[in-house]
Amino acid sequence: MKIKNKVALVTGAAKRIGHSVAIELASRGAQVAVHYRSSKVDGERTLAAIREAGSDGVLLQAELTSVSDIQRMFGEFDSHFGSLDILVNNASVFSAADPDHTTELIWNEQMDANARAPFFVAQQAALRMKEGKIVNLADVAGEVVWPSYFAYSVSKAALIAVNRGLAKALAPHIQVNAIAPGPILFPENYTEEQKQAAVDRTLLKRAGSPQDIVNAVMFLLENDYITGELIHVDGGRHIV
Ligand SMILES: NC(=O)c1ccc[n+]([C@@H]2O[C@H](COP(=O)([O-])OP(=O)(O)OC[C@H]3O[C@@H](n4cnc5c(N)ncnc54)[C@H](OP(=O)(O)O)[C@@H]3O)[C@@H](O)[C@H]2O)c1
Repeated sequence: MKIKNKVALVTGAAKRIGHSVAIELASRGAQVAVHYRSSKVDGERTLAAIREAGSDGVLLQAELTSVSDIQRMFGEFDSHFGSLDILVNNASVFSAADPDHTTELIWNEQMDANARAPFFVAQQAALRMKEGKIVNLADVAGEVVWPSYFAYSVSKAALIAVNRGLAKALAPHIQVNAIAPGPILFPENYTEEQKQAAVDRTLLKRAGSPQDIVNAVMFLLENDYITGELIHVDGGRHIV
């Protein structure tokens, strides 16, 4: 798929990796719907950067754990665009809790934001795609399951299943793929020790950059013969 003149929706695009993906899409000529939940000012910055990159877009607010709010967001999307070509399911929450400390609240928050929401966003997106691409931001935690991030890991495992299932269900006109990033941007509350431990668990002994993830997203969008795939962009973390 050529990205130029396409319409893209990136969830959680106000900051961090989603922000970088949105800007790259704009610099390649796509119009970008920038979703945010609570980071309105950052979302406005993303939109301003999209315009500086020579493209245009809109800002869409939604709490993606609510299916009715997802539907409302797409109603707003429809008032700006006639169709959708690209969805990047990027929004996510990342909460530490081992099985002993996994409350119902933590479990539901992780599953709802990281697995249920991407599914229902993709469901609405697919209704608006003639030919399209969906990229889901997963995690190697979904394959190996980290006990200290139990519900998070299970939610990403569910997302990897959603990825495969949607690849089958939406073929042949929509390709659905996932990326499993390694340590790219750490949570704000991470100590230096936690950051170093994450880096040490990679083969390449360093953190990646948002651009590493952006490059993988663009590769998946531009390649028309890959679907149901999960690409690790993790410095070799998944085989350690
Ligand atoms: N960062 C890494 O090193 C890393 C490593 C492995 C995997 N990943 C995956 O890569 C993706 C991007 O990572 P990131 O660290 O850039 O993400 P992030 O900063 O943790 O989250 C991105 C955005 O998700 C939005 N969000 C969270 N819960 C939401 C909800 N219920 N409804 C709507 N929006 C919600 C938030 O938007 P608001 O701020 O507007 O509320 C947040 O800014 C994620 O899927 C993550 O799991 C990242």
